[in-house]
Amino acid sequence: MSAPRPTPTRRPLRGDGPVVLHSRTDPAWLANALAHFDEVLIDHAHCEKKAAANALSMLQAYPEVPGLPQHMARLAREESAHLARVLQIMEARGLVLTRDAGDPYARALQALIRTPSEARRLDRLLVAAIIEARSCERLSLLAEGLTDAPLKRFYAELAQSEDGHQSLFFRLAVLCSDEAQAHERLEVLLAAEAEVVRSLGIRAAIH
Ligand SMILES: [Fe+2]
Ligand SMILES: [Fe+2]
Repeated sequence: MSAPRPTPTRRPLRGDGPVVLHSRTDPAWLANALAHFDEVLIDHAHCEKKAAANALSMLQAYPEVPGLPQHMARLAREESAHLARVLQIMEARGLVLTRDAGDPYARALQALIRTPSEARRLDRLLVAAIIEARSCERLSLLAEGLTDAPLKRFYAELAQSEDGHQSLFFRLAVLCSDEAQAHERLEVLLAAEAEVVRSLGIRAAIH
């Protein structure tokens, strides 16, 4: 167990991974997500699909990073399994997957990725770590707020899984640069992420 950190907004929101979000989700997000849970489920399915696709894209782009191909292959399988389970829950509720309307949160973070190849590789890994960390926070909130016991367990399990993913992406980011550089850039991106979250407001979506 780690000791509580001095500033409440910097305390890890959920999980023990290295990515400490700079802002907590507005409590109104959970109330809205529960009120529009079917919409959130469809968005969630698209998030898992994109997480699986991103893992394969990382493998394609950075096979030279030690361990990355194996980790990304496993991650793609795990995210695909999450997707399959979300689709199963949707089917049980009579929901069909609609076209992906796009994710303004992920797009805003991707816009922060720098162009030079080494900086790009570091930023892609760190942005992935941050998206996993925010997903972990939001899925934990759903696990707390939902009343249906199987759904609560499902979201608690997924939150734990996404927490592991944020640690994995951060470890790979450190491998690609060094710990101090990765932490320094992470803090810049986390500050930007908090601003993105604030500017997007409350949406019936995971992010
Ligand atoms: Fe996932
Ligand atoms: Fe994940």
